[in-house]
Amino acid sequence: MIYKKVYIKTWGCQMNLYDSNKIINHLKSFNTYKFVDSYKDSNLIILNTCSIRKKSELKVFNYLNKLKKLKIFNNKTIVCLCGCLATHLKDKIFSRTNLVNIICGPKSIQNLNNLIIKFVKYKKRLIDIKNRNISENINKILSDNVKINSFVTIMEGCNKFCSYCIVPFTRGFELSRKPESIINQICYLSKNKIIEINLLGQNVNAYNSFFKNGIKCDFTDLLCLISKINKIKRIRFTTSHPYNFNNKLINSYKYLSKLVNFLHLPVQSGSNKILKLMGRKYTIEYYKEIIYKLLYIRPNMLFSTDFIVGFPNETEKDFLMTLDLIKEIKFDYSYIFMYSPRQGTISFNMIDNIDNNEKKRRFKEIKKLIIENVSEINKKMLFNIYKILVEGFSKKDFSYLFGRTENNRKVFFIGKKNLLGKLVSVKIYKISTYYLYGKLV
Ligand code: SAH
Ligand code: SF4
Ligand code: F3S
Repeated sequence: MIYKKVYIKTWGCQMNLYDSNKIINHLKSFNTYKFVDSYKDSNLIILNTCSIRKKSELKVFNYLNKLKKLKIFNNKTIVCLCGCLATHLKDKIFSRTNLVNIICGPKSIQNLNNLIIKFVKYKKRLIDIKNRNISENINKILSDNVKINSFVTIMEGCNKFCSYCIVPFTRGFELSRKPESIINQICYLSKNKIIEINLLGQNVNAYNSFFKNGIKCDFTDLLCLISKINKIKRIRFTTSHPYNFNNKLINSYKYLSKLVNFLHLPVQSGSNKILKLMGRKYTIEYYKEIIYKLLYIRPNMLFSTDFIVGFPNETEKDFLMTLDLIKEIKFDYSYIFMYSPRQGTISFNMIDNIDNNEKKRRFKEIKKLIIENVSEINKKMLFNIYKILVEGFSKKDFSYLFGRTENNRKVFFIGKKNLLGKLVSVKIYKISTYYLYGKLV
């Protein structure tokens, strides 16, 4: 029997955080692993990696070098590389570093224990990046830190092949879970104090599955079913794609009151020329139509988005169109990325002709506008009443609790322990860029 002390380090998106939980649950089920908080105390290091940009990749190799310098490794330490870098670089990782012993792709997590046992026995480097189906009995075990909100993966992979993106190559084709299995999982979570669900997937609204009786279930059908679970009070999802944001989904905002008044809908650019080069399959007019239809149904709805700056051939004129879009839609806190060419994608063959300083300037300009929007939104929130989901105590002052508004603002307020895990109304009386202060009403 082996006894391993495991340290797990996670990079990347929420899907990777979710997968790290999957890894923990998988290994915990064998009783031969103990999880530790520091690599210093471990003899099995799991790196759950991301490869969305060059920088993400470098972070992993820099981390390995740091551990090497600290002389963390001895001949008993096993290093296992999981996540998107595993499927992106495959066995090339072995030639780039001799510190990695096992490579295990995102769809092979169920096989991780086997790989570790095999490695211990034969001391031979191993790789498993097979494209298996999504395991249906995942994450039934609640992790220790789950309190009142939980992610639930409903689909994985992507068929969109945007010209710049590595995800379809690292995560494989779209696969949707069975609706019955998702509902079972959410019912189980709801019986364990979870009242907010965040549905997870590379393109959640491309969800496309069938009930056991053969009847089709799309994303809106799934939302309707989840809404019927009494104890679930709030539903979020991330990430949805404009291409699949159909009228059925838009109209569901009329009658699904548990859907939050906030949507993260990545746009990437305000220029149709760039959207076309990116292979995004929609125009800016179509994107705005979605936003305006939603605002017609829910006038107070807020939106956040993702931008890529410095995509090949993005001129100043194209960039100004993005700035105009930000001013028009008044996006709330959003993510901005500098274009990073990824080997294997279509745009890798285009010349990366916007220099780094220019990318940085565009990044900063967008950030400035977004921060202006954020503070304008905060000002509008001042003296108004919002529902927040109470998540915990303030670390600085235990007489304060905090919760989140539908648009993810952390609100601190004075309150008692019995409010934890409840939806309460607070009136905002003080604002800063990212935090708000409120009083119970
Ligand atoms: N499926 C989601 C996004 C997943 S990736 C969607 O299509 O909307 C998260 C974000 O990373 C993307 O929205 C994009 O803004 C950014 N991104 C992806 N590939 C990138 C690259 N090669 N360079 C820079 N940013 C990138
Ligand atoms: Fe990447 Fe595009 Fe798929 Fe999003 S939709 S994961 S950006 S290929
Ligand atoms: Fe990164 Fe993979 Fe997520 S590339 S962003 S960890 S899907």
